[in-house]
Amino acid sequence: MREDAPVDEPVVEPALLVELVTLAEEAARAAGALICDGRPTQVEVAGTKSSPVDVVTAMDLAAETLLRDRLLRARPHDGVLGEEQGWLPGTSGVTWVLDPIDGTVNYLYGLANYAVLVAAVIGPIDAAPDPARWTVLAACVHAPGDGRTYTATLGGGAWRDGRRLAVTVPPSLEQCLVGTGFGYRSEVREAQGRVLAGLVPKVRDIRRMGSAGLDLCTLAEGGLDLYYERGLNPWDLAAGSLIAQEAGARVSGLRGNRAGVTMTVAGTPPRAAELIEVLERADADMAL
Ligand code: IPD
Ligand code: CA
Repeated sequence: MREDAPVDEPVVEPALLVELVTLAEEAARAAGALICDGRPTQVEVAGTKSSPVDVVTAMDLAAETLLRDRLLRARPHDGVLGEEQGWLPGTSGVTWVLDPIDGTVNYLYGLANYAVLVAAVIGPIDAAPDPARWTVLAACVHAPGDGRTYTATLGGGAWRDGRRLAVTVPPSLEQCLVGTGFGYRSEVREAQGRVLAGLVPKVRDIRRMGSAGLDLCTLAEGGLDLYYERGLNPWDLAAGSLIAQEAGARVSGLRGNRAGVTMTVAGTPPRAAELIEVLERADADMAL
């Protein structure tokens, strides 16, 4: 069992894992076709959320509706938690955690690095969902802008187009290419900027690509050595965390906590531990 796995990691029928990952991929591909083929030349902002730059487009809403319809048509007793339409409880024990467009700002600007994130989880979910309390069973991250599709099942490895994924193991923190992201509120960004300033001299370089889900998949296939971010929502984290873990990454928080809104750190265990130490010393999880 992975060191960051819940102590009571569930035993799940292999057939259920196959059913869930197949459905996740089918739904993610359909939503991906909708948002990619249907992208107007000029994407309009339909609304804002936590700040004026935290935008939602008509396609975020339409894609989440499509995902919900497909998933619940196939498995009507499951719950759903989506970024745009919230939580719908189910009775089967499985909940789908959805981000219809992760990387909405990239989508708005016509940059290809955005993705549909679909994860099937078990564990308690309520109106204040906490990824530390659930286990991700199956996941798909589909990036229709450049055709990448990643999948994983619990204990079954992480895959891209039939190729099994494995994280890289650089010899030292100084050799690591580190991905990260920033929140939408300026006071959060100011704190994130301070932490980043202390980290840049200690690593090979930094990348900010604009989709947390794709950052975790990129790490899973060796395109990043480490990733960290404060402020991830459950739907940003669920699908990519399983894909990174199944590729051999440790995915956790700081100070022995599990990954979540306070902090998510991912990477090969020895390097992730070094990054965690730097982030803890910098109080990267300090209350704002
Ligand atoms: C955002 C992206 C971004 C990350 C932000 C997320 P959204 O999700 O994943 O990379 O830095 O924290 O909120 O808003 O595009 O779905
Ligand atoms: Ca989103």
